[in-house]
Amino acid sequence: SRQLVVAVDGPSGSGKSTISRRVAQALDARYLDTGAMYRAVTFAVLRDGVDLRDADKITAVAEGLRLGIGTDPLDPHISVDGIAADREIRGPEVTRAVSAVSAVPAVRALLVAQQRAIIAASVRIVVEGRDIGTVVAPDADLKVYLTASADERARRRSSENAASHAATAADLARRDRLDSTRAADPLRRADDAVVLDTTALGIDEVVERLQRMLEKVT
Ligand code: C5P
Repeated sequence: SRQLVVAVDGPSGSGKSTISRRVAQALDARYLDTGAMYRAVTFAVLRDGVDLRDADKITAVAEGLRLGIGTDPLDPHISVDGIAADREIRGPEVTRAVSAVSAVPAVRALLVAQQRAIIAASVRIVVEGRDIGTVVAPDADLKVYLTASADERARRRSSENAASHAATAADLARRDRLDSTRAADPLRRADDAVVLDTTALGIDEVVERLQRMLEKVT
């Protein structure tokens, strides 16, 4: 049986993680959260007290790191130098700093190579991020670009953490702007991606639509 790669891109709060994990479970596929990889590098950069403007030092941290990337959609663990970092990589410090780290071209080159190696070693895999359909897996069998209104995305994110709606909305807007305007592999919809606006759709509905699309490509 041939390989199946599903690319899921979109801005923060568009439903990427929930949807990607559900689709991976339904396909009995692996799940790769590339955002978690950028977050893990950012965690190490902050741990080592590196200046976020120092691209060379950030790159050195990324190169010297041992990343453990779990790909079980039910339980995708992340470790940094052998230590579990699942909680830390979702914290406000990492979230604030991650766009600066992910804008460093050498960091992207390193992580994209690791992502491609994980994909190449998988029979079926759902990969989520910002540049999967455009850069990491341009030959993916199905490319999905998830969107949702800014208000709805902030609502989803503020229900996941303790921050206010306004603070979350401001953080999302800042991160979207940085992620879409950086020079290296910005957030962009692939020309051949299916766009799905999830503002008014439930999770089950989105998953069902993607499953129907997958039936056509497999
Ligand atoms: O998806 P998540 O919000 O966890 O991603 C965190 C950050 O990682 C994004 O804001 C972006 O800066 C970066 N990222 C990226 N390329 C990807 C995935 C994430 O630059 N493929």
